[in-house]
Parts: sequence; C-alpha cells; structure tokens
Amino acid sequence: MTGWEAGADLVVVGSGVAGLTAALDAAAAGLRVVVVTKDGIGEGSTRWAQGGVAVVLGDVAGDSLGAHVADTLAAGGGLNDAVAVDTVVRGGPGAVRRLRGRGALFDHDGDRPARTREGGHSAFRVVHAGGDATGAEIERALVAATRDAGVTVLDGHVAVEALREVTGRVVGLAVLAGDDAGVLRAPAVLLATGGYGQLYSSTTNPGTSTGDGVAIALRAGATAADLEFVQFHPTVLWTGPAVGRRPLVTEAVRGEGAVLLDRTGHAFMAGVHPLADLAPRDVVAAAITRHTAETGSDCAWLDATALPGFATRFPTVFASCREAGIDPRTDPIPVNPAAHYACGGVVTDTWGRTGVPGLYAAGEVARTGLHGANRLASNSLLEGLVVGERVVRAVCEDRAAAGPALLTAPVEPAPALPVADRATLQRAMSRHAAIGRDAAGLAAASDAVEAATTVGVPVGRAGVEDAALTLLAQAVLAAAGTRRESRGCHVRTDFPDRDDAHQAVSLRVRLDAAGRPVVVTDALAGAA
Ligand code: SIN
Repeated sequence: MTGWEAGADLVVVGSGVAGLTAALDAAAAGLRVVVVTKDGIGEGSTRWAQGGVAVVLGDVAGDSLGAHVADTLAAGGGLNDAVAVDTVVRGGPGAVRRLRGRGALFDHDGDRPARTREGGHSAFRVVHAGGDATGAEIERALVAATRDAGVTVLDGHVAVEALREVTGRVVGLAVLAGDDAGVLRAPAVLLATGGYGQLYSSTTNPGTSTGDGVAIALRAGATAADLEFVQFHPTVLWTGPAVGRRPLVTEAVRGEGAVLLDRTGHAFMAGVHPLADLAPRDVVAAAITRHTAETGSDCAWLDATALPGFATRFPTVFASCREAGIDPRTDPIPVNPAAHYACGGVVTDTWGRTGVPGLYAAGEVARTGLHGANRLASNSLLEGLVVGERVVRAVCEDRAAAGPALLTAPVEPAPALPVADRATLQRAMSRHAAIGRDAAGLAAASDAVEAATTVGVPVGRAGVEDAALTLLAQAVLAAAGTRRESRGCHVRTDFPDRDDAHQAVSLRVRLDAAGRPVVVTDALAGAA
C-alpha cells in the first residue's frame, strides 16, 4: 500500500552512465528530476567497467567513424540495427567531449587522449581512465556533477512497478524503501537499470544487476528483444568455483599484447580466428569454453608477463590478481568466461522511447539494436552516454505534445507474481543457458526454474529482484529455445551453424494474458 507520494517531471531509475547523463541533461533543461537508485548513487554496474569508451575522435591515423561502424556490425552477427549503429557511433565524439566537460579525466599520451584496443576493433580507439578504472572515473565525475546540480537522489529505493493511466500511458512509478512503499507521479519514467548478469552464478556484474528494468517494462506492456544474447566476458579471474561478482580482466590486456594459453602453454586462439586473441568477444569466450572442456581444464591462462608496467597500466586487474595470490608480471593469469552484458533488453528507438507512452529506457536495459547478437567491446559506455543525452530531448518533446494525466484513482496493491529461489535459478541458468546450450538443457532449466517457483506478492527488495530474475529467466529460456541456430553470444550445440536463410531476425518477447513471456516474432518459419 502507498505510504507516501511525490511528484516530478522525470523519474530516472538507476544511477549509472545512462541514468546520470540523462538526469543532468534533464536538470539543465529545467525539468524536476528524481533519481531512484537501489544502493548508493553510482554503485551500479558502470563503476566496474574497465576497458573504456570506444570512440573515434579523429586523431588516430587510419581510423574513421565508418571503420567503427563496420567493426560494430561485424561483431553483431547480422542482427544490428544500422540506424542505431550509425547514430550511436556518430554521436560518440560529442558525447565524450561533453562528459569531459563534466569533469571526467581520461588518461593521456602526451597532449592527446591515450587509446587502447579490444577484441573486434580494427584500430586503437578505446579511451580509458585510471588505467583500467574507466567506469569508476566516469561515475565519479557524473556523481559529483549530479550533486553540484542539486538533483534529488533517492538512495536505497527499489523501483517496483510503472503506474499507468487507463490509456496505458505511464504516469509514475511505485517504489519501495525498505518496507516503506511510495509513489512518484511523473509523466516520464526512464529505466536505466543495467542488465541481468545475476541470472548466472558467476558474473562480472554487481548484485544490483537483476533485470528490474526489463521486468518493469514487460509488465507495463513494452516489448523486449534479443534477450537470448547474453554476453560472457572471456577473461574473468578464475580462483576456483565461486558465486557472485567476479573480478574482470579487461580485454585491453589482450589489446596490448597478452596471449591466451592452454595448460600445455599452447596459444590456442591462433587457429580459431584471423584476429586470434583479439577476435570478437563471443568468439573468444566460446573458444575458451570449448578448449577447456576438450583439454579437461578448469580455466585458460592469460600470459601478460611481457607487458611493460602492468601494475600502473592495469591497477584494478593487478590488485585483484594480487589479492588472489597471483603476480601477473611473472605468472599467467587463470581466467574463464563469466556472464557480463545483456545485448538485448527493452526495445527502444535511438531516442530511448519504448512502445509505451511515458516509458523510456537507456543503457544496458535497452535494446536499441546497436549490439545485435554480440556487443563490440566498449560500445556500452558509449551507448549510455549518447542515448542518455538523446532521451532527454525525447522526454521534452513528448511532454510538450502530451495532455494532462488521467490517473486519479489510488494505486492498486502490488500483484502476486512468480518468484523462484535465486540460487536454484542461477544454478539452472549457469548449467544450461550459458555458453553452449541445447534443447534438452534449456527444457531442463525451464523445469528447474518452474519447480523452484511460488506465486506471491514480492516482499522487500529481494522479493522484487527475485520476481524480476524469474521473469527474465523465463524470457531468456523462451528466446534461447526458439532460436535454433548459433549466432553471436547464443551458441547452440545442437544447432552449431548460423542460419541466415531463416533466422536473421531479432526475437521479440512480450507477456501474454497470464503474465508469461512469449516470443512473438514469427521468425522461424521454415527453420529446421
Ligand atoms: C573490458 O574491459 O574488457 C570490458 C569492456 C566492455 O565490456 O566493453
């Protein structure tokens, strides 16, 4: 039940790069903006990003916006939206300039920004900060700017449900602070909640990445797409089986010369892809998974011993390794893939508009079509910056066109929802819906999630998150079962080939009348 109410022109859910960029632009445009964030401001997934921001600033010989577009399309496995790719790549230089204007300090090489390279990039075009602490520096700058701008931030508040008037238009958000329920009434709600890495036992994502935004959007009538494309980062520090957030070993380490080895010291990526260790991320993650299974190893090893100045160039990775008793200056780093990024999400245009009036999404929670079936490294911070700015322009335009809200009735009590036991769900998804899926495993995962599910009114933050994870597990499994081919991050061992003749199309997911996610794209007619 509702304990309190407040009003705003724009409610932003999430305090990562997309959310805070939008909040700052909205405040600058004179909107009353409220940021709702589950932990403290800036404690979501952005701060853990290491590598950097992929952007063409025009000062690297041989690089161009066209090359960045081509690399993004090549990585995306034929499912990118060309307009989204063009818009985000071309919007990058201006967005990075404005971010620097907000105080973000990037690393320099003389009087120019320093650049690194990551998997799938044909040029050194990734700008970085603090060596390998790019996300942390971006968050530091955006949080400071948000405080300076006097934006209202509700720390420790969980978004529960989008409120809609009879026409379906979103007119606010139900939130929870501990046991205290409240309502924020606003003509625009922006979901910037990040991804759903917590579907898996082992992930680079923090505990906040529980798919809340996708779940809220689906329940409000929006469409999601490309949910089966969960990107696994190839190189996450391996210290034995472990659950929860695991330390990333940025791809920039390979970009600057490190090589993946197997237990015999063989550099196995050389025979897998022409770009070898710098192949796109889906290729490297799948190769590690295949090679470790074939050789009976728990992990692969990343040999960075020839890199000069490792401790200062990669201080975050160095600290994680030292904590685990590994010295990357003298020893190869044990690594394995772990869940890292949701390439799909809530379907939006390049202005962050979902199909539901009043509801917007930006950053990892959204599916603009930039990433296709596999995101190019360091395009995610870029997308958050570019769409985080554009969405405010859409909010302002839509606000000018919209009539007064019709909602006057009291907010309904929270509905009962399916809620699965989180550890069971994570085990099932990790075993059957990670890299290398097949029909029998996906069915087994669905059965396991079903068996661990009860229906009830979610209680507190954990209940809201578990309900979101349950919905996301059902949706990912439905999409992964429907796509009977291998493409990008979606690797089916029972359908190992890509099927461009029948399946070169995104799968869209909506909720049916019973609230279950169903794949609505009739894309697979004629597929084997
Ligand atoms: C990394 O630094 O390897 C991760 C960057 C990204 O996910 O784009």
